Amino acid sequence: MTTPNPNQPEDPTPAYFRETGGLRWHARALMHWRLHEPFRREVHEFLGQWQPRTADVVLVGPSAGWSLPSTFLSRFSRLTFIELDRAAPLFFRLRHGRALRAAKCSTRWILGDFTTHLKTVIEAQPGCAVLFCNVLGQLGLERADYESQLAALPQSLSGHPWASFHDRFSAVIDQSRMQALSAFSTDQPLDARALQNLGLTGQWTDHGTGQLLMPGVTRRYIPWQITSRRFHWVEAGSVG
Ligand SMILES: C[S@@+](CC[C@H](N)C(=O)[O-])C[C@H]1O[C@@H](n2cnc3c(N)ncnc32)[C@H](O)[C@@H]1O
Repeated sequence: MTTPNPNQPEDPTPAYFRETGGLRWHARALMHWRLHEPFRREVHEFLGQWQPRTADVVLVGPSAGWSLPSTFLSRFSRLTFIELDRAAPLFFRLRHGRALRAAKCSTRWILGDFTTHLKTVIEAQPGCAVLFCNVLGQLGLERADYESQLAALPQSLSGHPWASFHDRFSAVIDQSRMQALSAFSTDQPLDARALQNLGLTGQWTDHGTGQLLMPGVTRRYIPWQITSRRFHWVEAGSVG
């Protein structure tokens, strides 16, 4: 994991430029749109299989929903978004507004840190579903206490169906090696030894998300070529 900055304030505040999102992320998502296509396809497939029986969903770190299909979002009647990026609501409306209006979905944005807001939001909506949108593997860039926050998270979601796709490992690797990698499902967590078994030697960053999904939960490991040099293994799974 990238070393957390000990001077980070306890609660990050919403902004247009942040380490994990904001205008830089929107520019990168648009600039690498074609490169991210296989990743988006995998995320769509994963979300298509997640069928929580509720009309209420809380999306954590959705950004503009660049990797989320409108068809998935409009399955829900009430959507609550928790985000640190002040620009996200505008870009989200541009990408999904028309589909959500057509499906008569109601939307509510909470601009703030989910570790502060999530508990109150889900307590007010018993049984609502929660989707973490590629945010949990980046918590170390926003909070010095990310390890204890991630450790406490699964228990705090008890009674709510939840799903997450998040960074598990990342590295700078050759493009030819990246292109040879494909998604796979397993109930064995991907760890340093499994990476070696896949022939993926080298310097990998561990994003601290290894304990989020309980043993026995089926995980999908999705390769994400984020730039021409940078590669992420994204772990996707659902609980409840
Ligand atoms: C990689 S982006 C997510 C991309 C998104 N899945 C998409 O489809 O465009 C991570 C997002 O999480 C948000 N984020 C990071 N830490 C957060 C936190 N503690 N609370 C709320 N949002 C957070 C960032 O602002 C950013 O928009």
